[in-house]
Amino acid sequence: MNAAEEQPMSPYERIGGAPAVTEAVERLYRRLLADDELAPFFTGTDLVQLKRHQVALISQVLDGPKSYAGRELAEAHKSMDISVGQYKAVGAHLTAVLEELDVPRDIIDTVGQVLESVAPDVIGADD
Ligand code: HEM
Repeated sequence: MNAAEEQPMSPYERIGGAPAVTEAVERLYRRLLADDELAPFFTGTDLVQLKRHQVALISQVLDGPKSYAGRELAEAHKSMDISVGQYKAVGAHLTAVLEELDVPRDIIDTVGQVLESVAPDVIGADD
């Protein structure tokens, strides 16, 4: 018996590991920067570092390598006054990217649950 048969593949492995996550994050930020309502948030942000952190975080969420070393999400977003609508818009872009890349539905659902669970850490405006 080889090692691959002993354990089910993680979501991270099923979607294609690091290259797939990197491609998803590239596409996500291309969309966010093309969205007139969201792009202004990223003015002045070090996008190389942000993408690196985002790849690490998503990999971790998908049971890949645990290497996220960025700030807590609440700490990173606290002064941005992100509205519920803006939050949902980012989530919709991420979901659309995963669909574009043919990520299996159960994995998209898992990501959706994580997005819901971190919403209170990211949303900062009352509307
Ligand atoms: C949907 C859930 C979200 C997740 C999982 C997430 C995740 C992250 C992560 C991991 C970082 C890097 C933190 C660090 O470098 O220490 C970050 C930074 C950032 N996020 Fe988010 N984010 C989310 C939603 C949003 C939304 C809705 C916006 C704006 C509309 C946003 C705007 C930003 C900006 C501008 C930064 C960079 C902050 C800086 O340069 O200091 N994020 N986010």
